[in-house]
Amino acid sequence: MARVFSGIQPTGELHIGNLLGAVQNWVRLQSEYDATFCIVDLHAITGAFYDAAQHRQRTLDMAIGILASGVDPERATLFVQSHVAAHSELMWLLNAVAPLGELERMTQFKDKSAALESIPAGLLNYPILMAADILLYRADKVPVGDDQVQHLELSRELARRWNAAYGGGATVLLEPEPLLTKARRIMGLDGESKMSKSKGNTINILDSPEVIWEKLRPAKTDPARKRRTDPGTPEICNIYDYHKHFSPPETVEMVAHNCRTAAWGCLDCKRVLADNMVAVLAPIRERAAELTGTPGRVEEILAAGAATARERAAETMTVIHERMGFLPAR
Ligand code: TRP
Repeated sequence: MARVFSGIQPTGELHIGNLLGAVQNWVRLQSEYDATFCIVDLHAITGAFYDAAQHRQRTLDMAIGILASGVDPERATLFVQSHVAAHSELMWLLNAVAPLGELERMTQFKDKSAALESIPAGLLNYPILMAADILLYRADKVPVGDDQVQHLELSRELARRWNAAYGGGATVLLEPEPLLTKARRIMGLDGESKMSKSKGNTINILDSPEVIWEKLRPAKTDPARKRRTDPGTPEICNIYDYHKHFSPPETVEMVAHNCRTAAWGCLDCKRVLADNMVAVLAPIRERAAELTGTPGRVEEILAAGAATARERAAETMTVIHERMGFLPAR
C-alpha cells in the first residue's frame, strides 16, 4: 500500500478551515493509504502561535480535533513530532546536503523573515525539518495545500542530493509527490483573508450552536445588499461559500435564488447556514466529548502512534547511519 504522510501545526482547537482544507481529506486518505499524520510541534516553535505556556494544551487540543473529525487510530498513525526524536536528528543530517541559497529563496521564509528584526535560524531550516518528517517514513504522497508545494519540492531535492552523496546508487530516500487537494481555501468570517487563528476570524469545530450563531450573525455579506429588498450576488458572498460546504445542494440552489431575487434577507440566509453547520459539526463535538470524557485516552492514542512511528523511523535511520559512515553505538 502506498504511504501518505502529512503534518499540521498545533494551533489549538481546529477551525472549519483546517477541517475542510486538510483534516477531512486525511479522513478520506486513511482508508486508501498507509497513512501517517503528525502534529508538528517542533515546527511550531518558530511560528506566530508559539507560546510555551500554551504549547502542550494546543498540541493536545489539535489531537482531540483531529481524532474527533474522524482520523481513526485503528487505520492511521497519529503522533506528536517531538515524541519521535529521529525527526530532529535527521534534520541535522540533512543539513549536510541542504543548499543555503535555496533555503533563503523559499517564499515562506522570505515572507516571515521580512517582518522580523532578528531572524531565528529555525525559520530558515524549517523546510529541512519538514523534509525529515516526510523522508523518515519513505512517504510516496504528501497531501498539502499549494502554499507548501515549494517546501515539498525542496524535500525532493534533499532526497536526491542525499541519495547522490550517500546512497551508493540506491534510492534510500524516496522523493515524495504532492497530493494536491482541490483548493478548499476557506475564507475567514471577515471575508477578507484566509480563515486563521491569528486573524481571529474562525469558526471552531467545537463551537457551540450559540457561539456559531453569534459569529455568523455579524459576518460580512455582499455589500450590495444594504436593504432586505436589494438583490445580491451569491458568488461574491462568503456566506454562500460556506453554504456550499455545509448545506445540501438543493439548499445551496435555494440560497442563491433567494439572494439574487431578494426573496429573503442575509439574516435568514445565515440562520439556515447556522443550522446546517451545527448539524455537520454535531457528531464531531460528540466524539470530542467522548474522547475527553475518558482521562488519558488521547494521550494513550498518541503514545501508541509515537511507538509505531518510532519503529518505522528507526528502520530508515539505521540505513542512514550506515551509509553516512557513523560508528555503530555497539
Ligand atoms: N509546513 C506544513 C504547514 O505549515 C506543516 C508540515 C510540517 C508538514 N511537516 C510536514 C506538512 C510534512 C506535510 C508534510 O502546513
